[in-house]
Amino acid sequence: MIEWRDMPAFSGSVPVNDIEPRVSGHQAVPCLISDIRDALSKAGVDPDAPGLDDLKPVDHFHTGGAPATEALLKQLDITARTRVLDIGCGIGGVARLVAQKAGAHVTGLDVSAEFTRTADTLSRMTGLSDKTTFHTGDALAMAVTDESFDLALMFHVGMTIEDKNRLFAEVARVLAPGGTFALFDVMRTSQRALTFPLPWAETRETAFVDRPWVYRNAARDAGLDWVGTRDRTEPAKAAFNRAFETSRRIGAPPPVGPHLLMRGKAETKVSHYLSHIYACDIAPVEMIFRKPA
Ligand SMILES: C[S@@+](CC[C@H](N)C(=O)[O-])C[C@H]1O[C@@H](n2cnc3c(N)ncnc32)[C@H](O)[C@@H]1O
Repeated sequence: MIEWRDMPAFSGSVPVNDIEPRVSGHQAVPCLISDIRDALSKAGVDPDAPGLDDLKPVDHFHTGGAPATEALLKQLDITARTRVLDIGCGIGGVARLVAQKAGAHVTGLDVSAEFTRTADTLSRMTGLSDKTTFHTGDALAMAVTDESFDLALMFHVGMTIEDKNRLFAEVARVLAPGGTFALFDVMRTSQRALTFPLPWAETRETAFVDRPWVYRNAARDAGLDWVGTRDRTEPAKAAFNRAFETSRRIGAPPPVGPHLLMRGKAETKVSHYLSHIYACDIAPVEMIFRKPA
């Protein structure tokens, strides 16, 4: 049984309330749930009873959206008994998809209280409250007992975490022997300077886009075995092309979309991101690790 320690969520000596504006300030969206409800109404969906498919354009906040989530999940063995942790869960799309598809219970953790509150509400609205639980806290100091999870997932979170060694050590601690860590992050593939803002960071001070070997070394030092790596640049380009094509066809971005989380500078952030993908400066990459049994 997973036990969340009865303690305030701290990151070392830094209270979450202090780090939240730094690591997720670009995503601090007040009244997010009412924005999502308004967008659902505009899209002709009942805002009180959306289906998982209605939310997918906004609640899988990573490159390629829900299809990219499915692409990683397909490589994993998840059953109703798998204890799943989603690190940096955002507003909970990945957690709900896993819960719905595999019947597993998923615990989501995010440093943004606004996101975990929204994740809770969306799970209630989609009837998945009993299969998903969301906590506010820092991935670098998770308030959870050792060896509590069989699978840890992490989608597009590492780019805002500087200390990869501490991240991997913490994941290794909470994984049960034989457990899996599957992640999908944007990683560095050149030394050229990045242009900001990017979808996950306003400035270079809050962006820690690392090379794949940084992840592999951190995993090795934490005692996790490397299982595989997959570059997702081509599927990412195809997903962006599909999204642009849809916007062109209907004359504007669809009401429900990632712009709800990125706010005003969404176009600039996406345009910088795409330029860097096409210049091979960065790449969306999946990695899977296993803790020895
Ligand atoms: C780009 S979003 C991805 C959200 C979600 N994984 C998804 O794919 O929909 C990155 C998320 O990581 C969270 N995050 C960043 N640093 C974190 C940390 N140290 N601990 C927990 N969550 C963190 C942010 O608040 C944000 O929700």
